[in-house]
Formats: sequence, structure tokens, C-alpha cells
Amino acid sequence: MGVSQGLGQLLSFSAITLTLWYGLKLTRTESHHYTPGALFMNVTILATQFMPCFQTFAEASASGSFVFDMIERANINVLDGEGKKPETIKGDIEFKDVTFSYPTRQESCILQNFSMKISSGKTIALVGASGCGKSTIIQLIQRFYDPDNGQILIDGHDIKTLNVAWLRSHIGIVSQEPVLFDGSIEENIRLGKLDATDEEVIAAAKLANAHNFIMDFPENYKTISGDKLSGGE
Ligand SMILES: Nc1ncnc2c1ncn2[C@@H]1O[C@H](COP(=O)(O)OP(=O)(O)OP(=O)(O)O)[C@@H](O)[C@H]1O
Ligand SMILES: [Mg+2]
Repeated sequence: MGVSQGLGQLLSFSAITLTLWYGLKLTRTESHHYTPGALFMNVTILATQFMPCFQTFAEASASGSFVFDMIERANINVLDGEGKKPETIKGDIEFKDVTFSYPTRQESCILQNFSMKISSGKTIALVGASGCGKSTIIQLIQRFYDPDNGQILIDGHDIKTLNVAWLRSHIGIVSQEPVLFDGSIEENIRLGKLDATDEEVIAAAKLANAHNFIMDFPENYKTISGDKLSGGE
């Protein structure tokens, strides 16, 4: 920001200096056309036009640098086609000596050398005090963040080597505080798989025990979710 502000000021003062110098020259050589009054007016107009522009430019470049910093920090890109997409997924999950702190709060370590193994098909519960890191573990499995140290493996593959979109398409989450988007129930279910057929949407709802109460609404799957549903529903 300092550099661009400095450059901006250099440019605007140079323009005014140039106008003053050339204007003075003209008031001497062509005094019948250019009076000192006209020169003064020109310089004033120039100054008032330039100043706000350069201030805006300096502010914009400072804000821009924050935005670009953030874009560069995000090294997990769901849109890139990189990474392995194994044919099948069994679902064995393993955390190996995982150490993690949130990028915005480096000083507090949420997981330190955390290891666990969950075999495919097992139902498990993570139990612990509020804020101990249970939801963080789920976020790490979805690869919203990468661990600072250690590895997270699914079927023996480090999740960093897997395609992010592929990985997430194999995970179903019912979060602590469910979020529904404005739109129909059907559209909300379809967010998990954009090209799902109507049959697949209904099958998913049946699996989640939601089909029956959805059918009780007058507009069934076309019901606008809004505030019609309870947290559990
Ligand atoms: N995005 C974030 N940025 C920085 N710190 C965070 C972020 N999300 C959570 N934390 C902090 O990380 C710690 C673990 O949070 P987490 O959500 O994993 O807890 P939890 O075990 O799921 O708690 P609860 O039982 O209340 O749901 C908490 O101290 C929380 O304040
Ligand atoms: Mg939680």
C-alpha cells in the first residue's frame, strides 16, 4: 500500500509540476493567450481531479492484496481435476499422528498427534467436551483443511492424493446445525448430486427417513423449505 500510495503521489505531483513549468513558459512566450490566472485555474483543476483518483487506487490495491492473499492460501480446490479417483470406496478411515490448528488461530492446537482407525461399516461416536475438536475431525475428513502434520487415510490413500470433488461426493453429512437453502425440498436434496434423477432424490429421502413427512406436505417434494421444517426434519 505504501509503495502504490507513494507512486500515486509522485505521479500527481509530477503532473502538476509539469503543468506549472509548461504553463509558466507559455505565460511568458504566449502571454496574449495564457495568463497567470488561467494557469492557476488549470493547476487547481488538475490537482482536484487527480487526488481522489490516486487515493482510491491506493485503497483498492491494498484491499486487493488481502483478497489475493486469501486466494493463494486456498490450496484445496474442489474444481481442479487433479487427484486419484479410485473405482470403489470401502470406507476405512485412519488418522495417523494428526496435528492441526485452524489457519486463523495458529496459537491454539486443536489436535495434537491424534490417531484413530475406523473400519468400514462400523458405527462410532466421538465423545468429548464442547470445543474439544469433534467437528474439526469431520471437517478434516471432508478436506476443508489440511493437517499441519500427520496423515488422514481413506482405504489407505492419503486424502491429499484424492480428487477433492470425488472425495466429498462419497461423504454424507448431517451437520449439527442443518442449513437449508431457499428452494424446494427436492432442490435441497439434489445439492448433494446435481444430476440426480427424481428416483434417486426419493431414494435418498427414504434412506434418511424423510420420505414420509415430505409426502405429508401438500406439495410434497416441491414444498419450499423455508421455515416449514423442524431441525430434525
Ligand atoms: N473455523 C474455525 N476457526 C478457528 N477456530 C475454530 C474454527 N472452528 C472451530 N474452532 C475452534 O476449534 C475448537 C474445536 O472446535 P470443534 O467445532 O471441533 O468442537 P466440537 O468438539 O465439535 O464442539 P461441540 O461439542 O461444541 O460441537 C474450538 O475451540 C473452536 O472454537
Ligand atoms: Mg461440534
